[in-house]
Amino acid sequence: MSLYDRNLILFSGKGGVGKTTIASSYALSCARRGQRTLLMELNVRDKVASYFGSQEIGSEIVTVEDNLHAVNVTPDAAMEEYGMMILRMKLVYRAVFENRVVRTFLQAIPGLNDLLMIGKAWHHATETDADGGPVWDTVVVDAPATGHGIFLLQIPSVIMSSISSGHMYREAEKIFSFLTDPQKTALNLVTLAEDMPVNETKMLRDQARQKLEMPIGCVVANGLYPQTFDQRERDWIDAAHEGNLSVDAGVSGMINAAAFRQQRIDMQQHYMDEIERSFDAPIARVPYYFEDRITFPVIESIAERLADQLDPEGAP
Ligand SMILES: Nc1ncnc2c1ncn2[C@@H]1O[C@H](COP(=O)(O)OP(=O)(O)O)[C@@H](O)[C@H]1O
Ligand SMILES: [Mg+2]
Repeated sequence: MSLYDRNLILFSGKGGVGKTTIASSYALSCARRGQRTLLMELNVRDKVASYFGSQEIGSEIVTVEDNLHAVNVTPDAAMEEYGMMILRMKLVYRAVFENRVVRTFLQAIPGLNDLLMIGKAWHHATETDADGGPVWDTVVVDAPATGHGIFLLQIPSVIMSSISSGHMYREAEKIFSFLTDPQKTALNLVTLAEDMPVNETKMLRDQARQKLEMPIGCVVANGLYPQTFDQRERDWIDAAHEGNLSVDAGVSGMINAAAFRQQRIDMQQHYMDEIERSFDAPIARVPYYFEDRITFPVIESIAERLADQLDPEGAP
C-alpha cells in the first residue's frame, strides 16, 4: 500500500539526520498531489516556516502553500483543544484545566505532554467536517528523535495497560488502534548512511515492531554525496594520495581533499549496502544539497525525489 494512501505519516530517526527537512518535503509532495495536508511540528523551535518562507509557525494552523498547512503543537494549546474534546464542555475544562493548582499538578505527570500531542495528531488525522468528510487527507508529523519518539508513541499503550476502563482508556485505545493500523499510519525512518544513525534506525525499527506494533512506511537515506569522480579519476587520486604517482607539490592539498571526498562516498556506499540488507521497507535516497541553508527550492526538489521513489506510478 502506497504511503500516499495513508492518513498519518510520521518521521523519526536520530537527532540531526534531517527529520524536519524530510517531513516538510514529504508534506509538500502530498500537497502537490492535491492532498489536503497538515504538517505538524511537536513543540520544537519552529524550522518549517523558514523552509516555506512563511511567518513563524505557532499553535494556530497556518497556510504555507496550496493544500499545505502547518502547526507547531504546544502542550498548552493541545491541552486546551484536546483536553476540551475529552471533557466536551468548556466550563468544565476551565474549572479543571485552567485551575492553577491543577495545571501545576498536571505538568508533573510524566508523559502528559506527549499524550496531548499524539492525541492532537490523531485528532487531526481523523477529524471530519460538517458533511462527515475528512478535514485532512494527510497529516505529516515531524516526530521527536528516536528515544523521545518511542516514548511518545508508546504512551497510548502504556495508558491502556495501567488503567483498564473508563474514558481515558477508550481514548488511548482509539489512538492505539489508529497508530497500529497499516492502512492508516506509517512510521518512517530517516537516517544518514553512517554508522551511528544506521544502528539507531535499526533499534527504532525493532522497537516499532515489538513495543509500538507500528507499521514502518519507508526508510529515507538522507544526505548522500553524489559520485564526483569517474573510475579513471579515482585510480589517479588513489595513486597520487598513496605516493605512487608524482604530482606537483602545489596540488597535494587538492589531492588530499579529493581522496577525503572519495572516502566519504565509499563509506556512504558501505552503509547504503547495509541499509538495503537490513530493512525490508522501501528505501528513498535523498542527496546532500551543497547550499548555505535549506530553502524552498531544496524542499521542492526533495519532495519530487520522494514522490518519484515512493510512488512512481502515483498522481503527479
Ligand atoms: N539533504 C540535505 N542536504 C543538505 N543539508 C541537509 C539535508 N538534510 C538536512 N540538512 C541540514 O541538516 C541539518 C539537520 O536537518 P534537520 O532536518 O533539522 O534534522 P532533524 O530534524 O533530524 O534534527 C539542518 O541544518 C538541515 O538544513
Ligand atoms: Mg527537527
